[in-house]
Amino acid sequence: MIRICFVCLGNICRSPTAEGIMQHLVAQYDLGHAIALDSAGTSAWHEGEKADARSREVASQRGVPLTSRSRQFKAKDFSNFEYVVAMDQSNLKNLSAMAGPDDASKLVMLRAFDPRSPEGPDVPDPYYGGPSGFDDVYDICQAACEGFLAHLQRHHELG
Ligand code: 4NP
Repeated sequence: MIRICFVCLGNICRSPTAEGIMQHLVAQYDLGHAIALDSAGTSAWHEGEKADARSREVASQRGVPLTSRSRQFKAKDFSNFEYVVAMDQSNLKNLSAMAGPDDASKLVMLRAFDPRSPEGPDVPDPYYGGPSGFDDVYDICQAACEGFLAHLQRHHELG
């Protein structure tokens, strides 16, 4: 099983969106037996909450339900995942600070898997912006998750 955790700051906007999109792709490709998904936040600010209503609205318009509840990523979580996928440089820095020697290699940036994305790319934080930010985040996560799944298919034996 390839276990993947998407991580942002609040675990209510970006990482639940990426998790929902990836879940949808995994189902489309019939890879549910091989890939397990989760998400978490570097903060505990929204612990226990559903994804932000604006994220859920955009995703549901595209046929993707977001069902996660927010939780904080803890250092011990590293042992439960092969990939810990940061949404931005700040998340990556916070995760790196809690990573043990065997964990650092699990850390990746989501947009690094989108060949059309600019270099050093963040998934922008939509929380304090307008509604178009949530559409943008969805499109960014969709493109990057497609690239990430292609990467997984290349690097793991996924039948
Ligand atoms: P997320 O967005 O990290 O994509 O879930 C945010 C959610 C909440 C806050 C910031 C970003 N906040 O400041 O509460």
